[in-house]
Amino acid sequence: MNAPPTHRTLALEGMTVDTRDERLVDDVSITLERGEVVALVGASGSGKSLSCAAALDALPSGTIKRAGQVHLDGMPIAASLLRGRVVASIMQNPRSAFNPVRTLKSHFDETLKALGVARKARGPRSRQAMLDAGLEEPERLLKLYPFEMSGGMLQRTMIALALASEAPFLFADEPTTDLDVIHQRDILDLLADLRTRFGLGLLLITHDMGVVARLADRVLVMDQGRLVESAPVETLFERPQHVVTRALVEAHLALYPHRQAPS
Ligand SMILES: Nc1ncnc2c1ncn2[C@@H]1O[C@H](COP(=O)(O)OP(=O)(O)O)[C@@H](O)[C@H]1O
Ligand SMILES: [Mg+2]
Repeated sequence: MNAPPTHRTLALEGMTVDTRDERLVDDVSITLERGEVVALVGASGSGKSLSCAAALDALPSGTIKRAGQVHLDGMPIAASLLRGRVVASIMQNPRSAFNPVRTLKSHFDETLKALGVARKARGPRSRQAMLDAGLEEPERLLKLYPFEMSGGMLQRTMIALALASEAPFLFADEPTTDLDVIHQRDILDLLADLRTRFGLGLLLITHDMGVVARLADRVLVMDQGRLVESAPVETLFERPQHVVTRALVEAHLALYPHRQAPS
């Protein structure tokens, strides 16, 4: 399941997103290595999702990419070649990512077909990805429709789809926000495990500093469309520089005063 070892570094450079009359994301650059977890944090509306969407040419209507280029191992790469092949994505609400009238198997088949995987390889690859994402009895589960699964299982299935694509990088946009606490923990354990097992490079968008403390190697902080701080996770918690970062860290420590973050 491991992706080709040639892809080591993904670099988003100068992502800039506008509406007709406003700048939403201003010159955001993010570098992500294989096997690394980079957390992108910041208040709601600070531009986290749009920065990633800009890199993948997946911006919502009403917004336009003004500038920005992605490099893979130092070479420029088109968004169309990145999406799904080099970068898989999972989102906050897994249910909205599935077609309600199609089985899970048909989602896997479509994804793998689009990647050029031969028909007879699709089944085994789907089942293996389900197992790798911690879903037992893949044969049975693949026959189900999205409504027959819990939110937590659907999020695992999203992750399994990402694994089946064998993309070396994963963008996870608030992947646990819509889940209950137990499922949140399960999904975070799984993401941590995938980073080690497959050497995935994970860009984790979150507003939860507990998640950051637990998973991230490096942290990038956004405020009003700009990156305002970038630091290794220990440094960020010990010596937050920007006022926004300080507020995030203080709020976290107020909630969990007994927990020395990060462990
Ligand atoms: N389709 C859109 N049209 C206009 N403005 C948008 C659109 N999508 C997002 N925005 C605005 O862009 C800003 C950044 O959004 P977003 O990247 O989704 O924030 P975050 O993910 O950090 O919560 C917000 O102020 C939001 O209101
Ligand atoms: Mg967002």
